[in-house]
Amino acid sequence: MQDESLLNDATPYVSGNYAPVTEELTVTDLPVIGQIPEELEGRLLRNGPNPIGDLDVSSHHWFLGDGMVHGIRLRGGKAEWYRNRYVGSQNTAQHGLAPSAGPIDAMTGPNTNVIGHAGKTLAIVEAGTAPVELTYELDTVGTNGFEGTLENGFSAHPKYDPLTGEMHAMCYAPATLMDKVQYVVVGPDGTVTKTMPIHLPTMPMIHDMGLTQTYAIVFDLPVAVDLDLAFAGQRFPLRWFHDYDARVGLLPRNATSDAEIIWCEIDPCYAFHPLNSYDLDDGRVVIDICRFDKLFDVDRNGPFRDALPQLERWTVDPAAHRVTRDLIDERHQEFPRVAGSVLNEKHRYGYTAGVGDSTSEWSFGDTIKYDFDAGTSVAHDHGAGRGGAEPVFVRREGATAEDDGWIMTVVYDAAEDRSDVVILDAQDVGGDPVATIQLPARIPIGFHGNWVRDTVTPAP
Ligand SMILES: [Fe+2]
Repeated sequence: MQDESLLNDATPYVSGNYAPVTEELTVTDLPVIGQIPEELEGRLLRNGPNPIGDLDVSSHHWFLGDGMVHGIRLRGGKAEWYRNRYVGSQNTAQHGLAPSAGPIDAMTGPNTNVIGHAGKTLAIVEAGTAPVELTYELDTVGTNGFEGTLENGFSAHPKYDPLTGEMHAMCYAPATLMDKVQYVVVGPDGTVTKTMPIHLPTMPMIHDMGLTQTYAIVFDLPVAVDLDLAFAGQRFPLRWFHDYDARVGLLPRNATSDAEIIWCEIDPCYAFHPLNSYDLDDGRVVIDICRFDKLFDVDRNGPFRDALPQLERWTVDPAAHRVTRDLIDERHQEFPRVAGSVLNEKHRYGYTAGVGDSTSEWSFGDTIKYDFDAGTSVAHDHGAGRGGAEPVFVRREGATAEDDGWIMTVVYDAAEDRSDVVILDAQDVGGDPVATIQLPARIPIGFHGNWVRDTVTPAP
């Protein structure tokens, strides 16, 4: 699948719906096809890179650039508004856009995820940048390192524990923490309650983590900071390392030091996103995860030209110090999600975004639901030239079944160059959408988001 002519060329990652948008919009009373469930009161939020100005496509990386948060506010069966706003940073301030997030803001604002926690809306990213707090209407309030309790940067993928209300995160910061990452726990009050260093021989890209009732899971996989690239001024100094001792670490959640990690070897690969993780009764751990065979080896502009992601089940055996990998599906897919009610426990269902459609190997396409117990899946085809982003599961009030709720996803329509929010019945994913909210513009492919209810703190 590699086309050498495309390498050292970020054009695919800034073209079509990868391209940034240039306007901040506020549009109210959006048109809707179908009926938005009346109980959905809150905001669907998304974040992604939206670089400002001209880009050098020979060196640009999809993961770089200012964050832009998009929000759709629902209430009483209506889509009350759509807003998109830059996340404040030094760069947005220099361009006369969003104000600086000061006093310790980053050159570019957090561009990877947006969560609600302890009543605050936070834009977040990995690799050394603190969260930036936003207003309900998505304007920048300022840098918020959990009320000053965060020592370094945070992560784009904190793992929420619905039993404790905590967020757990693996945080790395190449500029300040070259020989370790930090395991950080944020309490339900929005302040850090635990910071534990985990010493590593390299500085791997730890994009995400796993969490079970027993363990915090560290992914030490072969994409790491290359100091030569960093000193040469590369803005994205990470690459694939051949002959890397790839491993998965099980850190007991109650550990007092990283000496308690149980490291388990794994055949080299990379994964950005676990769908969910849980303990088995025999002491092993299951991680369902989207895996790349290789990443950032030849393609240094984005993730899709060395390999494409597939869903696997990893079984971690701490007694054997070994991870077994089993492919679940040949299809390419990313952005796996699970219902908040089964986070860190055994799940039956999972949801992903299919990668690849008739136009491009790295477009996004179907929304896929898995029934892991039955070994089946069903896909929602959004139509020709239409592709869904990360599927966000929203539980129906009073639900007892794990999949009783809705899937909300942003769908890009290439012909109209515009996006919709599509709401699917999670128990009838292949059926017609419950509602399609027509947005006034497109939301770039971007990365992650969440449904943030108005009345409770949602799961990130
Ligand atoms: Fe991510």
